[in-house]
Amino acid sequence: MLTMDGNQEDSLQASSTILEVKNLTITYKFSNYSIKVVNSANIHVMKGEKVGIVGESGSGKTSLATAISGLLDSPPAIHNGGKIYFDGREITPILSPDRNKNGVLGLNMVFQEPLTSLNPVYRVRDQLLESMMACGLVKKDDKNSVSQGIDSIKEMLGELSIDSPEKVIEKFPHELSGGMRQRIAIALALLQKPKLVIMDEPTTGLDTIVQVKLLKLLSRMQSETGLSLIIITHDLTVAAQICDRIYVMYAGKIVEYGKTSAIIKNPKHPYTSLLLSSIPSGFYDSPPLPSMRGDPPDMRNIPKGCAFSPRCPFAFDRCQMSEPEIAILENNQGVACFLYE
Ligand SMILES: Nc1ncnc2c1ncn2[C@@H]1O[C@H](COP(=O)(O)OP(=O)(O)OP(=O)(O)O)[C@@H](O)[C@H]1O
Ligand SMILES: [Mg+2]
Repeated sequence: MLTMDGNQEDSLQASSTILEVKNLTITYKFSNYSIKVVNSANIHVMKGEKVGIVGESGSGKTSLATAISGLLDSPPAIHNGGKIYFDGREITPILSPDRNKNGVLGLNMVFQEPLTSLNPVYRVRDQLLESMMACGLVKKDDKNSVSQGIDSIKEMLGELSIDSPEKVIEKFPHELSGGMRQRIAIALALLQKPKLVIMDEPTTGLDTIVQVKLLKLLSRMQSETGLSLIIITHDLTVAAQICDRIYVMYAGKIVEYGKTSAIIKNPKHPYTSLLLSSIPSGFYDSPPLPSMRGDPPDMRNIPKGCAFSPRCPFAFDRCQMSEPEIAILENNQGVACFLYE
């Protein structure tokens, strides 16, 4: 039976879990040093849930997402332990040579760099059509099916605020702007009608109006189709706008998780408070911190004990000596901080 975040689970909850990551640890090994990019990560996503993974640059978000998608390159990646379950079955191999090369049906990822998802030598129409054919949604030799597929593609691009979709589908990826390519990559993932989509920084290249439209479209698709979403972002406000729950990541570790309202209104981990305090005032009533200092850690040299302790105004001796485990507080809010043991 699947279990979640160290809690006792009943089978009902387990059956409505679409994704579970258990104690996942990943190292990147180079000739003269290693970095632990994901450190005993536990996350789960329920069917129909929208979950955010938030953290500063270099905290390991993309590495975690790429591992779930089974697309990590080895070298440099090494799987040091942990398992992944999707839709009731184990899909653990996280390195690209080991995972089935066609991927896992129903699990799609939109990469931070959209060109990674797009084939440079195919027109937009052909690659979107081909991806729909690959999962049986369009029949190659059936003209009606192909024409319906093209209609669905144009409709989806329109929903993603792309003007003149009929012209855009004739273009090659290099002929499009970065923001446009990002939306084509999102369309590619959504048109396959997956059960779970992982979107890595989906709003980064988009202007504010298109961002808002995209988040609304994702929410609507979620309620219409029961799609589950993981939104990876360095911007807590993006996660707060769309996600039901949020995981906060620091130096490869999940340091806090909980319902979005709890994370925003009642953050427990000092790092979550730091992220909130960097949002312009007036956005949320984030509690001010006495002082916040320092930069994200060098992953080659993560501080002993709690990795956040050198920046934490509340740190005491123990924080420099041992790593806090996740303590589960009320409303299933989890926090890895000795202040809450
Ligand atoms: N292919 C690679 N080779 C070497 N180091 C890498 C590689 N990919 C990631 N890293 C390092 O691993 C750490 C985690 O990177 P990752 O891309 O997972 O973080 P991230 O949270 O997604 O950051 P960002 O917000 O900048 O996208 C960083 O220190 C990064 O420099
Ligand atoms: Mg990233």
